[in-house]
Amino acid sequence: MKNVLVIGSTGQIGSELTMKLRSIYSGDIVAGYIKGAEPRGELAESGPSMEVDITNARQIAEAVDRYHVDTIYNLAALLSAVAENKPLLAWHIGIDGLLNVLEVAREKKCAVFTPSSIGSFGPTAPKDGTPQDTIQQPKTVYGITKVTGELLSNYYNLKYGVDTRSVRFPGLISYVTPPGGGTTDYAVDIYYSAVRGEEFVCPIAPGTFMDMMYMPDALRAAIEIMEADPSKLRHRNSFNIAAMSFDPEIIASKIREHLPEFEMRYEVDPLRQGIAESWPNKLDDTCARMEWGWKPEYDLEMMTIDMLDKLSRRLSKP
Ligand code: SER
Repeated sequence: MKNVLVIGSTGQIGSELTMKLRSIYSGDIVAGYIKGAEPRGELAESGPSMEVDITNARQIAEAVDRYHVDTIYNLAALLSAVAENKPLLAWHIGIDGLLNVLEVAREKKCAVFTPSSIGSFGPTAPKDGTPQDTIQQPKTVYGITKVTGELLSNYYNLKYGVDTRSVRFPGLISYVTPPGGGTTDYAVDIYYSAVRGEEFVCPIAPGTFMDMMYMPDALRAAIEIMEADPSKLRHRNSFNIAAMSFDPEIIASKIREHLPEFEMRYEVDPLRQGIAESWPNKLDDTCARMEWGWKPEYDLEMMTIDMLDKLSRRLSKP
């Protein structure tokens, strides 16, 4: 049995992770939400939910007490592009919020998962085969909160024994809940345009490579790292994980193999392009593979087949 609190349960990752956790564990999987983003449908009906704003430590503590929570998945964040327009809010949610989670976890002995990102690296890190342990000097406030979050999470582990673990997610692609305000969002939006038979206007320039991952692999990573044998973990916050790396031309050609009429043109967004250029092309995930057996299942071909199939069914529903 496991009782889990998911903070940010109605977001891009949370909406799917909460359902997946409910399908695996027999305890209470609590969907924490903020006002205006209440769970709906299956997410609301399949288990308990509670208002838990990460910036409100009392709400986090109440949820942990009420449901005897042993693990907190902290998924609250502003994504990279939107964070550049709201840097103080990005810090408030990413760091003040994380400290609330870590303090509650310390007092009440919970394990904590807080995702980091490819965005935790900056232009000074090696771009290809970016190592697990290397220089992290991000240019974005999103990346700065992610590096700080990694350091704080390790600090709480070393100083207080809080069981903090995490992975550095690539851009995540899914047909369920769309992301909002990320730099990698184009790799989701492109499938929506393709399935709707619309031309896709790409905000990222050709030749810009970024790591990407299909959501089922990302959910598995988030669960497997928390299930891993701690005696085997040399790292904790945060593990590089990787599945595929492509630029807009490669994903567009892959889609055209299935939908030959698909068209794309470029209207590069300087904000997102600048962020993308500061990020790695491809992470080296050897440590995750060695320390807890990480292995992706989906490559670009498998993901594209599944995305096009699932999205066309979804979008054809009235
Ligand atoms: N998907 C995130 C973003 O683009 C990166 O982790 O902001």
